[in-house]
Amino acid sequence: MDMQEQLEKLRNDVKNLAEKATKIDELKNLEIKFLGRKGELTNVLKKLKDLPADQKPIIGKLANEIKNELTAVIDSKLAEFSQSDKVSTTPLDMTWPGAPLQTGHLHPITQFQRKIEDIFLSMGFEVLDGPEIETPKYNFDLLNIPKDHPARDMWDTFYLEKGLVLRTHTSPMQLRAMEKRKPPVRLIVPGRTFRHEATDASHETTFHQYEGLVIDQCISVRNLLSTLESFFQALFGKDVRIKANGSYFPFTEPSLEISMSCLICGGHGCSVCKQTGWLEMLGAGMVHPKVLKNMNVDPEKYSGFAFGGGIERLMMLYHGIDDIRLSYKGDLNYLEQF
Ligand code: FA5
Repeated sequence: MDMQEQLEKLRNDVKNLAEKATKIDELKNLEIKFLGRKGELTNVLKKLKDLPADQKPIIGKLANEIKNELTAVIDSKLAEFSQSDKVSTTPLDMTWPGAPLQTGHLHPITQFQRKIEDIFLSMGFEVLDGPEIETPKYNFDLLNIPKDHPARDMWDTFYLEKGLVLRTHTSPMQLRAMEKRKPPVRLIVPGRTFRHEATDASHETTFHQYEGLVIDQCISVRNLLSTLESFFQALFGKDVRIKANGSYFPFTEPSLEISMSCLICGGHGCSVCKQTGWLEMLGAGMVHPKVLKNMNVDPEKYSGFAFGGGIERLMMLYHGIDDIRLSYKGDLNYLEQF
């Protein structure tokens, strides 16, 4: 048999065998046996060098054609098999659960705000919401911060058109809440606040505060301190202590700055608490008699305390977050950790 005949026989054999094959494995073996590196076609081609010069290109061309043709025959048969395999091994299961829907979750600040709300709710407080756009009357005047008084500079204010402001703190809600209530009251107002400030790791232009207001007969600083101590202990654990230092807010008298014993060093002094053992947590005080009058509450009969703190700063301490701006970037790597 000359080489041309050998090649034609190989072509027919492989085509017949491919046609009869019933399994993928059979086809793969066929491919290896006839077309592989040590296969029969390669063996035939090795003898190409012994042919007369004029025969070499003719037989070489034929061998190539046969190789391409047989490769195509085997490939198309393989494709047929894998197609029918899929159909037969993957029956339609109507009860199979669908691809899970990607759901989001509440923003970490909202989650933390709800944690604060839950603690105060458990202490018998009601939770109120209030407007983010305010009039200067509520944001300042009724809180005993008169126009042109230097105390207004304590709040870097975004002024809007028509004389409105973005509320710089949640304190205006003290007045709004008391328009519809009579003492005794116990309420907190968590919400968004705004300040025209340069941002850094602990300052944002938009942030959240939680405001507290309690008015009743015989309310004293002692009630304020025990309420806040209970709050911080519910959040951070029973070992936490608080202390009060004198401060100034136009709407409280006396005004206090409340600090909590440092969580990192337990009050011994470390870099987080600047070696003082204490962390400043919020502003507070006894409601100023003028503000009580603005609430239509008789200061001779009733007294009250108020406090206001930053939700992000508290959350940063709680979760060990070192930059307030992370919460406002919309970065999924950060948000998905909550
Ligand atoms: C007030 O806003 C008072 N209204 C608090 C108050 C309420 C005092 C009731 C007395 C009675 P102050 O400006 O200190 O106070 O802000 C309170 C808290 O808001 C701060 O302790 C801080 O936690 C947070 N805060 C203030 N500015 C920013 C800011 N730019 N970014 C993030 N948090 C801030």
